[in-house]
Amino acid sequence: MISKNKWWQSAVFYQIYPRSFADGNGDGMGDFTGMVEKLDYLQNLGVDAVWLSPHYPSPFIDCGYDISDYEDVAPEYGDLKVFKRFLNGLHQRGMHLILDLVLNHTSDKHPWFLESRSSLDNPKRDWYIWKKGKDGKPPTNWYSTFWGSAWELDPATQEYYYHFFFKEQPDLNWNNPEVKAAMFNAVRFWLDMGVDGFRLDAVGTIFEDEHYFDHPEKSTHEELIRLELSIKNLEEQSIVTKTWEKMFQYQHDMPGVHGLMRELRKVLDEYDQRVLVGETDDIAFYGNGDDELNLVFNFPLMREAPLKASQIRANQTERLTKIPTGGWPCNTLGNHDSSRIYSRFGDGTHNSLQARLNLTLMLTLKGTPFLYNGEEIGMTDYLINDSRLFRDPLSLEYARIIQQLEGLSEKEAVHIGAEKGRDKCRTPMQWAESANAGFCPQGVTPWLPVNPDFKHGVNVAAEMIDPNSLWNYYRNLLQIRQHSAALLSGDYHEIKGLPNEVFGFSRTSVDKTLIVLLNFSAAVQNIERTALGAPVYQIVIEGGTNQWVDGAKTASLQPYGCVILEPQN
Ligand code: GLC
Repeated sequence: MISKNKWWQSAVFYQIYPRSFADGNGDGMGDFTGMVEKLDYLQNLGVDAVWLSPHYPSPFIDCGYDISDYEDVAPEYGDLKVFKRFLNGLHQRGMHLILDLVLNHTSDKHPWFLESRSSLDNPKRDWYIWKKGKDGKPPTNWYSTFWGSAWELDPATQEYYYHFFFKEQPDLNWNNPEVKAAMFNAVRFWLDMGVDGFRLDAVGTIFEDEHYFDHPEKSTHEELIRLELSIKNLEEQSIVTKTWEKMFQYQHDMPGVHGLMRELRKVLDEYDQRVLVGETDDIAFYGNGDDELNLVFNFPLMREAPLKASQIRANQTERLTKIPTGGWPCNTLGNHDSSRIYSRFGDGTHNSLQARLNLTLMLTLKGTPFLYNGEEIGMTDYLINDSRLFRDPLSLEYARIIQQLEGLSEKEAVHIGAEKGRDKCRTPMQWAESANAGFCPQGVTPWLPVNPDFKHGVNVAAEMIDPNSLWNYYRNLLQIRQHSAALLSGDYHEIKGLPNEVFGFSRTSVDKTLIVLLNFSAAVQNIERTALGAPVYQIVIEGGTNQWVDGAKTASLQPYGCVILEPQN
């Protein structure tokens, strides 16, 4: 035991997007058979836990985040038997598994909703949020975050139901104790099976303001989107964020959610060593530090690109101070909703170095890191240029809206749709240089097009055999972290007196200190050795080729270079 952490504090999580990870039955779609075949891959890479995006039966309008049965496996992914093989396979290899849990809404095809919508007096009517319209209009002026009104008129009963996301994702009414009981049963179903916890989807939107007032924002959703598309600087970004907050003020972050999180946490605590991770950056979800969520994502770090040393420094100072005692940080730079790290945080020239730099940041900061499948080989955003191939309805919506608002050509609109939608970061995993990047057999059409850069070295097989590849950097650093008490649980101290563009800190455990230096600039940065304390260092790992000659007064980091040092006595 090299650290006194709980398993989820030491673990590096790896998010698997099931549809795109590995196709075991040759139908062009990822599945559990494929995932089972990749168990050794995960172990060899050196990750410790998997977060699985939704694997439940679903009409797949929102790619599985519209669940129609919380206690089963999507038939296209397999069944409970093969699910258990995957779960047990992870456990046998010392890894853990957490599932995605969508509490806010179900699919409109879930039997609960089918019952609820069937009549005004159905016993499940109150499981969802139904309201009468106002003068022939929806009950409030609230928007769905995805587009249009948050209310959908149901012709059968002439009432509106509420949906924060797509209209095929009706929000559950969490004020109804039966909803809670049913959902907690589903939670127990997986925990009893041995699942190690959950990533909680969209926790902030579970409750709505009970008064159902109209929001006071004057600009329309169209105007907000138009503004969003033309953002040029942080100031404009902040205007958009503020407008958004006003527009959606009655639809998220209602205080009631914390009581629910405490109750859910109690359920998890009936079991040994389970974990709750929230899709939120709100520190309030740590509760008193040990009674709500175990982990809350540090999304502010991921939101700002390009990454700058000053901004990371401020981010760490702020978050580490605010997280209550007992709470544990959680860092990530990418997931299935955001641009690929390689594209988003790369400047187009130094991407390969920046990918190493960003990983070094993630794996050395205090807290639990989350990686997203494919980032280990530097997968990039792939923009689909044919709207018939879009699978994320957001792309289609955006293309349509933009074409309407701005009168763009079809081609331009499709481009914006591809950029604003999420297909670009969900394309199939690139395993090899063979047909379809080895994701599915030759002649089969994968559910989303494969990024053709797999032919130019961006694939697992090629990178595994190249000692200088990004994949091998991931593997080396993951191993270093796994065996370093300083990185797993050591104290964090920012190092002062470094060039402004260099973010540096030490991690100190009982018997070891490691120094991490990260150059977030395109210029060489010289570092006065006196700033670091000891005269002689051993290089633990470095990204790029820096100038680190023992005995010299200054050392230098190459553009976007980074290094982990161990002071020698
Ligand atoms: C979360 C998911 C996203 C999904 C949404 C609605 O934000 O990460 O993919 O569309 O919730 O469930």
